[in-house]
Amino acid sequence: MDRCVLVYGAYGHTGRFVVAELLRQGLTPILSGRDPAGLGAMADQFPGLQVRPAAVADSHALRDAVRGMAVVVNCAGPFQETAVPVAAAAVAAGAHYVDVTAEQAAVQDVYRSQASLGWPGDVAVVPAMAFYGGLADLLATAAVAGWEAVDEITVAYGIDRWWPTEGTRNTGRRNTAARLVVDGGRLVRAPSPAPQRVWEFSGPLGRQTVTGNPFAEIITMARHLAASKISAYLTTVALDDIRDPATPAPQPVDEAGRSAQQFVVDVILRRGGEERRISAAGRDIYAATAPLAAGAARWLIDGHAKVHGAAAPRGLRRRSVPERAQPAAPDDPPGLLIASPHDSPI
Ligand SMILES: NC(=O)c1ccc[n+]([C@@H]2O[C@H](COP(=O)([O-])OP(=O)(O)OC[C@H]3O[C@@H](n4cnc5c(N)ncnc54)[C@H](OP(=O)(O)O)[C@@H]3O)[C@@H](O)[C@H]2O)c1
Repeated sequence: MDRCVLVYGAYGHTGRFVVAELLRQGLTPILSGRDPAGLGAMADQFPGLQVRPAAVADSHALRDAVRGMAVVVNCAGPFQETAVPVAAAAVAAGAHYVDVTAEQAAVQDVYRSQASLGWPGDVAVVPAMAFYGGLADLLATAAVAGWEAVDEITVAYGIDRWWPTEGTRNTGRRNTAARLVVDGGRLVRAPSPAPQRVWEFSGPLGRQTVTGNPFAEIITMARHLAASKISAYLTTVALDDIRDPATPAPQPVDEAGRSAQQFVVDVILRRGGEERRISAAGRDIYAATAPLAAGAARWLIDGHAKVHGAAAPRGLRRRSVPERAQPAAPDDPPGLLIASPHDSPI
């Protein structure tokens, strides 16, 4: 069981990408979630994989589901409903916990639970290892190398179209907590109305209007980066897509099940008059979440990442990677092209 990873919410859109990626990485996914029928249908598509149904409100079933797992990857959102119960079951069983939330409040709930629920610190608890959250956190961590503090970190999510899943829509409805940014070195409410500006993305995305829209990356970065200001923007066209109830769900256009959606994530760090910029580009934000979450599971299992207790994604940076980022072909899973103007590990 030392390479077994329980995927909670396995039959969701993101969960499926994570299961496929875990298999690709040589790990053994165990399918879990609240709907036995959904799990059964998925097991038919992935013959040989074990199924362990459990609802989050059923602590006995959750305890049985996580038993013997090395890692639990939670892909079931809204995470304000699932993160703490699934994480609590994982740590009680001695399993590491990773999730893919974009919700700031869910990350804060998990961080606070470490202390308030007295979780043992001998396993890793890493929320937001996903496109929104962990990716920008890892990019900023790479770019900050050699600087102890920064004046400002700005994240710009460039997305050409956002075809939202039902889970994204449910999470948007559930996520009524005030959005937070860092200002004056503290988490404060994001400005309202949300600021807009023009952003020059690389590649075909080019010049875009972006709107202030902070996600989980603000909370994770605030945990470990000394920055006076941290903010995040999203292309306004993508926001318009998810605000439109008529926008359809993502449609697969390749064998991996990815949609045609293109993204660029820019992270800019400023210290005095100096500026560092690091970017990642790829296809399909749901598919791109899988190598982050599955990669985290593998780093934890292989012992590359030594994380204790609730931590930001940064703690999972693989130690054995080369000192320079290795660009991958954008169409090659995991489909991330990392570009950094200075030598920094990622
Ligand atoms: N941070 C990021 O970049 C990122 C990337 C991808 C996804 N996400 C988040 O991941 C979540 C899932 O997204 P998705 O695209 O995979 O959506 P999806 O295809 O609709 O799947 C949602 C999954 O969550 C399960 N679920 C929802 N509420 C649950 C609950 N209270 N208890 C147990 N299971 C529950 C669903 O089970 P049922 O079908 O039984 O309801 C389903 O398996 C969303 O919150 C989304 O925002 C974040």
